[in-house]
Amino acid sequence: MCGVVGGVSERNMVPIILEGLSRLEYRGYDSAGITVIGSSNKLARQRVTGRVEELAKICGNENFRGLCGIGHTRWATHGGVTIDNAHPHFSNDKIALVHNGIIENYAPIREELKAKGYEFKSETDTEVIVHLIHSLYVTNKNLLLSVKEATKQLHGAYAIGVMCVDNPDEMVCARLGAPLILGLGIGEMFFASDISALLPVTQKVVYLEDGDVAIITRAGYKVYDAHDKEIFRKPNISELSVTQTELNGYRHYMQKEIFEQPDAIAQTLQSLGNSFNTNVFGRDAGKIFKQIDQVQIIACGTSYNAGMVAKYWIEDFAGLECRVDIASEYRYSKPPKRPNTLIVSLSQSGETADTLASVKYAHELGMTNTLAICNVAESSLTRLSKLSILTQAGPEIGVASTKAFTTQLVVLLYLANTLAMTKGHLTSNDAEARIRQMRCLPQLIIDTLKLEEQLKLIAKEMEYKQHALFLGRNTLYPIAVEGSLKLKEISYIHAEAYAAGELKHGPLALIDKEMPAIILMPGNLLHDKVKSNVQEVLARQGVVYLFTDTEEDVTAKCHRVVKMPENIAEYLLPIIYTIPLQLLSYHTAITKGTDVDKPRNLAKSVTVE
Ligand code: G6P
Repeated sequence: MCGVVGGVSERNMVPIILEGLSRLEYRGYDSAGITVIGSSNKLARQRVTGRVEELAKICGNENFRGLCGIGHTRWATHGGVTIDNAHPHFSNDKIALVHNGIIENYAPIREELKAKGYEFKSETDTEVIVHLIHSLYVTNKNLLLSVKEATKQLHGAYAIGVMCVDNPDEMVCARLGAPLILGLGIGEMFFASDISALLPVTQKVVYLEDGDVAIITRAGYKVYDAHDKEIFRKPNISELSVTQTELNGYRHYMQKEIFEQPDAIAQTLQSLGNSFNTNVFGRDAGKIFKQIDQVQIIACGTSYNAGMVAKYWIEDFAGLECRVDIASEYRYSKPPKRPNTLIVSLSQSGETADTLASVKYAHELGMTNTLAICNVAESSLTRLSKLSILTQAGPEIGVASTKAFTTQLVVLLYLANTLAMTKGHLTSNDAEARIRQMRCLPQLIIDTLKLEEQLKLIAKEMEYKQHALFLGRNTLYPIAVEGSLKLKEISYIHAEAYAAGELKHGPLALIDKEMPAIILMPGNLLHDKVKSNVQEVLARQGVVYLFTDTEEDVTAKCHRVVKMPENIAEYLLPIIYTIPLQLLSYHTAITKGTDVDKPRNLAKSVTVE
């Protein structure tokens, strides 16, 4: 959460920072700020509560310019949403700093600095960093050294960019537990939370490691590792392009990302190849998959819901016990130390703090067979894990995850089958048939997206609803959970999901003629069981929205029936049934007029605990 961007250039940094901030806004959007060192070598700052758009309006003044500058978009943790709490923060009008992360020991440092006479103007944990750096700079007069010494005293997570009026030709950055990259231009050098912020100016990036401190000038960069040793971090050329991160005619990123799913899945399938092959997970995967006798999945949010689907597949196909835990729970739990566990972490961003901490925790417990399924190459998670595989969803910018989820499901289905092969549970004929069926996914999704008009109608009926209930069984239960999460996060309707069999154990009490029940009832093995649940809701005047590929007596009594594509392989159902639920939440949010891509209080990348 929070996005940072900045750099030293031969041209005015203000438009570059503003563009970078708007591209980082998915990380947090309750306030934004920018500081440049102006021509008179003084710090000039603009800050707003609200969006980057508002910040841009007040940065139009010609005199607000500088060749060295930093910017920040905030997702509040310590201190409310006020101008004073917005970054950049200053110390003695000499040093300016932006920060993403949380400093856990800020309170004692703050007291020490106050005793030395430092005056705090905000309620943030960040302000202690800038004063701490200043207090060291006063004696050593060296910004790089001051940042190195200051970061040694900090506990928690940080990605910082710091500049000092005494030397407007250089800037110092540092990271620990929060992402930070350098961007290399010609006669200019930048830093940012992620590559999307820098794509308009460069595709050449250096990924900083935890504990790194870097100094950048127009001519180059130097990096010092956690042991203060100068180290060469190799530049990479990013494959992302500016157009991939733009709306390209769509109204919202979420809409664009929903409709990109056939392509994203096709790309992901292509990267996996024509057979179930352990090598795609990494060089040692074959050996590790043979050794393991259970699977532990760890994730947050939508990624966790993908993990819940995978549990059914892994247990069914590979005969392996599979546990799924929410990362923020796992990291503080006491799981049995079983070294033959495959720890699978799922994350779109690869930067979610709790997921990262869980993988580190598993390593500490001696469970080092870690596999990351991630959408971002070179993310902290992929670098931390022994094995990794990328979903080929392309950049996902809408806060509500869509294409990252369905591509995760594709990789998880592939993983379950690869484990099944390794454990001798899958014949080569069955393997071929499954690969063939998985290849039908892009077209099946194209067909399912055609349901959009029907879902718009349902969305209109949802507009005035306060609550909604989502029901499903087996692999469709986690899809009900995901559908309810999508609806609540972008349309602010309270939605809950239950395994349909649990209906009688509580939620049935909520059913009346006001309560919409969204029920997923494919014509699969559990069809009759779900049908009984539909009857139970109807018998209590519940308003049923049925998603099914079957036609029968019960459908006539439902309020609306969404006819899903027929003859879909059982294991592809969760992927296909996700699509109409995404469209339903998207159109409900449009009808309600909420901010689809940036729902209130949320952020895409949760890099704090
Ligand atoms: C946030 C996002 C969700 C995402 C979750 C986990 O809550 O808003 O869309 O599912 O984080 O993120 P990850 O990047 O680890 O998948």
